Amino acid sequence: MTGARDDTAPPARVLSRRRLLLGGAAAGLGAATALGAERAVAAIVDAGATTGPAPEQLHGAETIPFHGAHQAGVTTAPQAHARFIALTLRDDVDRSALARLMRLLSDDASRLTAGTAALADSEPELAALPSRLTVTFGFGPRLVRIAAGESAVPSWLGPLPAFGIDRLEERWSDGDLLLQIGADDGVTVSHAARMLLKDARSFATVRWVQDGFRRSRGSERSGTTMRNLFGQIDGTVNLREGSADVDRLVWSGEGWLAGGTGMVVRRIAMNLDTWDRLDRGGREQSVGRTLDTGAPLTGTREHDEPDFAATSAAGFPVIPEFSHMRRARSDDPDERILRRGYNYEQAPSGDEVSDAGLLFVSYQADVSAQFVPIQRRLDELDLLNEWTTPIGSAVFAVPPGCAEGGFVGEGILS
Ligand code: HEM
Repeated sequence: MTGARDDTAPPARVLSRRRLLLGGAAAGLGAATALGAERAVAAIVDAGATTGPAPEQLHGAETIPFHGAHQAGVTTAPQAHARFIALTLRDDVDRSALARLMRLLSDDASRLTAGTAALADSEPELAALPSRLTVTFGFGPRLVRIAAGESAVPSWLGPLPAFGIDRLEERWSDGDLLLQIGADDGVTVSHAARMLLKDARSFATVRWVQDGFRRSRGSERSGTTMRNLFGQIDGTVNLREGSADVDRLVWSGEGWLAGGTGMVVRRIAMNLDTWDRLDRGGREQSVGRTLDTGAPLTGTREHDEPDFAATSAAGFPVIPEFSHMRRARSDDPDERILRRGYNYEQAPSGDEVSDAGLLFVSYQADVSAQFVPIQRRLDELDLLNEWTTPIGSAVFAVPPGCAEGGFVGEGILS
């Protein structure tokens, strides 16, 4: 055997081999010196151990309360995985059946989000790691009509006005009941979805399912703004949880929806294959922000205020007037929304390398007054439109939360 170091050997083996070698080398030295050298090597090995991987941080047991004035999953810091499921109610579902359905689903959600098995859970072990699971329910116009009649349907609840950029497909649009399931663990999401769908199946059929992802929990500091698949930092200018803006602009104060909100889900295809042909300067101009830090083109840090009046030496605005950021920003402080989107990707077809995009999700108390004017401006002009196409669209009313023993939707169903 040679004295060459075996890097694949576990640390203990390396240490004992070093001890052996040292023992040989130290044969002619005084015992005290040999002992000192051995201690020095042991110290280096110990130091190596402390610079090795940090102790594992486990997040699987973390929970987000299901009960409360508002439903969880709206202002909750976005989890790594989300599944959006839209259901179509069966024709024979009436108001009392709806109340039974929502009672069942709320019960499932309250158990699963606490890390306990749902009733008759077929895989109870999978419920043990909730990983910040949230289940959020949204009502489409037909459900509200069945529950409480036409007068209960908020004026904005229904298909959005048609936009010129839209290429909407029915398979990603509309729905009677939305389940938004989010967790930091994909297995948790899958199990929760299955439990909820099992209980829903005699009342409703699945209309569409859309899966979204962000970076895994632990890959970067919590609170880091997400990156979309264009590589852009996406979500910098947003309503922040706990701010007075959220109370005013996200949570509704209207009738049965007080404490709830309006939700827009848009599936927006992002053409990564043509985006590839655009140079970095062009990419940054299309949004008005840099790709590395997400800073506005007039600043250096992500949260710097953009200076839309700044011009280049040639006299052009540094942040193009038609950039996405410029066009999305309103002068009216009431025209703001809470964005909480996810990346999606599906199998490419034909010669495509990627078929990917953004599950754009926003919450706002009044969809017509807040979301629609922004989308109108972007529809008229937005450099980003060259590479993005909305292919799905749905709007839901997200009822307020419920107390323990209650159920989501009880305001119009009981
Ligand atoms: C695939 C489609 C989209 C992509 C890739 C995208 C990407 C971005 C990026 C990179 C930013 C700048 C950073 C930030 O503040 O978040 C931004 C800002 C923004 N986007 Fe989008 N976005 C898309 C669709 C939309 C849609 C459909 C809306 C609403 C109708 C929207 C509304 C906004 C708003 C309000 C801002 C903040 C503007 C401000 O600075 O005040 N975006 N988006």
